Amino acid sequence: MATQMKTQVAIMGAGPSGLLLAHLLQRSGIDSIVIDGKSREEIEGTVKAGIVEQPAAEVLVGSGASSRAMNKEYEHHGITFDFDGGSHRFDFTKLVNKSVFLFPQHEVLIDLIAARIAAGNPPLFEHLAEKIIDENTNNPKVVGKTASGEEFEISADVVIGADGSASIARIAVNGSQTSGYFREYPFAWYGILTEAPMSSDELIYSRSEEGFVLISTRTPDVQRMYFQCDPTMDPNSVSDEEIWAKLQLGVKVELKRGPIFRKDVLRFRSFVASGLRNNRIFLAGDAAHTVPPTGAKGMNLAFSDVLWLNQALNAFFNEGTESLMDSYQEDALDRIWKAQNYSYWMTTMLHIAPDATEFDKKRQLGELYSVTGSEYARQYVAEGYTGWEYGAAWK
Ligand code: PHB
Repeated sequence: MATQMKTQVAIMGAGPSGLLLAHLLQRSGIDSIVIDGKSREEIEGTVKAGIVEQPAAEVLVGSGASSRAMNKEYEHHGITFDFDGGSHRFDFTKLVNKSVFLFPQHEVLIDLIAARIAAGNPPLFEHLAEKIIDENTNNPKVVGKTASGEEFEISADVVIGADGSASIARIAVNGSQTSGYFREYPFAWYGILTEAPMSSDELIYSRSEEGFVLISTRTPDVQRMYFQCDPTMDPNSVSDEEIWAKLQLGVKVELKRGPIFRKDVLRFRSFVASGLRNNRIFLAGDAAHTVPPTGAKGMNLAFSDVLWLNQALNAFFNEGTESLMDSYQEDALDRIWKAQNYSYWMTTMLHIAPDATEFDKKRQLGELYSVTGSEYARQYVAEGYTGWEYGAAWK
C-alpha cells in the first residue's frame, strides 16, 4: 500500500521555484508539500551558478526567505566586456541605479530549505515523483517512490511542476517532455572551479576570435571560470595548462591560477514548453523554460513564474476565483520571452559559432562596439542584467 498524503498544493521539485512558492504560499495560509528525488545534502552541496538580480534579491529578503541575499559582500556594481583588445565596463549603478548579487543558487537553496524547516514544513527529500495521475480532474495526484523503495501518493487540489529541465510534469501538461519551442547552440561551456584568489572584482565576459570566456567567482578563495568549447568535448581531454591558456584568451587581466578541482562541460539550449498549464497542473521555472546561462537569467526568471503562481493560488484558495490561474500562462510568458531574447542575444553576441564567416565576426565586433559605445545600449544591457521589475507579479 502506498503512503497517502493530502495537501492543497503538491510541489514537484525542491529547487528555487518550488521552495520559494511553498514559502510564499505558507505566508497566506495555503498548505503545500514539496518533494524532491534528491537528498538535502546533494541539493545543498552541489555548487551552482547564480546571479540574483536586484528585484529577485528584494523578493528573497522582503518575503523573509533569505536574510543573506543582499549582503554587501555579494554585491556587484558592474560587469566588463573584453573584446578586440579593449575592456568596456558597464557601470550598473550609474546606468540604472541597480546592482546584482552573486549569491549562487545553492546558497539560495540553503536559505529556502532552512525557511521551510523553521516553518515546520520541511521538503520531503528522496521522494522521487514518477508521474502525475488524474491530471484531467480537479484532484490530481503525484505518485512516486522514496529512495528506500516505498511508494507514495500525494493527492492535491493543484500540482506544480517545478521539477527542472528534465521535468516529468510536462507530460501531464503537454503530453510529452519535449513539446515546445526549442533552440540548440553549436557550442557549450567548459567550466572549472579553482582554489585561487579572485582575478577581478567584477565578472568579465570576453569575446575573442577563439571564442567566449567568462571569469566569475564563488568565494574569495574559489573561482568559477568558463571557456567556449565543443558540446561533445570530454572534460578530461585537456591538461590544466591548456585550460589556463584557453581561459586567458581575450581576457585583459592576468588570471590568478590555483589547483583546479572541478571540470565540467555545460551544454545549453533555449526552450519554452508549449503550454504551462493543464487544468490544475502548472509548470514553473526550468520545467517551463530553459535559457542559456550567458545572461544569468535562469533563477530570476523562475521567480517571476512563482510570483504569478503565488497570486493565482491566493486568488483560488482564498478568494475562490480561477481568473488568475486562467491568465497565468499569458502573464508568465511575457517575461519568459523577453528573458529568452536577452539570453539568446547575450549568447550570440559573445560566442563565435563554429561556422562563423569573416563577415560574421566583423559584424559581431560592430555589434559589440555599437552596444558598448552607446549610453542607451549600455543602459539596455544593464537594465536586463540587473533585472526588470516584477511589476504586477509582486505586489
Ligand atoms: C557563474 O558564476 O557561474 C555565472 C555567472 C554569470 C553568468 C553565468 C554563470 O552569466
